[in-house]
Amino acid sequence: MSNVTLDKSQTIQVRYAEEATTSCCLSCGGAIDYAKPEKGEVLIDLGSGRGLDVLKAARMVETAYGIDFTKEMINASVSNKKKLRLENAHFLEGKIDQIPLPNESADVVISNCTINHAPNKQAVYSEIYRVLKKGGRFVVSDIIVDEKLPDHIINDPNAWAACYGGAIPESDYFEAIYKSGFRELEVIEKSESYQKVEVMVRSITIKAYKK
Ligand SMILES: C[S@@+](CC[C@H](N)C(=O)[O-])C[C@H]1O[C@@H](n2cnc3c(N)ncnc32)[C@H](O)[C@@H]1O
Repeated sequence: MSNVTLDKSQTIQVRYAEEATTSCCLSCGGAIDYAKPEKGEVLIDLGSGRGLDVLKAARMVETAYGIDFTKEMINASVSNKKKLRLENAHFLEGKIDQIPLPNESADVVISNCTINHAPNKQAVYSEIYRVLKKGGRFVVSDIIVDEKLPDHIINDPNAWAACYGGAIPESDYFEAIYKSGFRELEVIEKSESYQKVEVMVRSITIKAYKK
């Protein structure tokens, strides 16, 4: 038997493939509720998991898209969509730093507990900027850390899959957002520090408009 070492992305996908058909809670905030999706809008959810937020949004907006790179999550979402007969919900397999949708196609982008998994946060926020229409907004719930993590955690794919290995300090996170073109970031919610396996993290929910 050969030993196969999985990289960070593969380890994250293995974790979520296993959780696609469970009911275990995967979120870390209330991005969709703060985003207040409206009739006639186009919404994109980055890291849509089993599709629950997309299916909730589809009842409020014109079109809702979920993007996720774990095939099993997309399959679970499509199966949930069929049960609910929500024709305006669409699930696309893809990476959040290469969103498979055109420029200026969305009024609102949401994401819940996903961007911490991405190695390049600025690339993700640049993609959010690209797909938003002028005047569009994002509301993101995510995980941050108070201090830069030590290399042994940053280099551990299992820590990334467990939603803390890829978490960065607030100042670095906000810098990535500003460098992507957004201004006037609003912090809607920030938790106290709490322990996630071996590190202290916070949940944060933020919002900004594309001016
Ligand atoms: C913690 S779960 C959150 C799911 C959902 N947003 C929720 O709140 O229930 C993270 C999801 O993001 C997906 N994901 C992680 N990194 C991703 C990436 N770089 N590109 C696309 N999807 C990603 C995973 O497959 C997983 O379904």
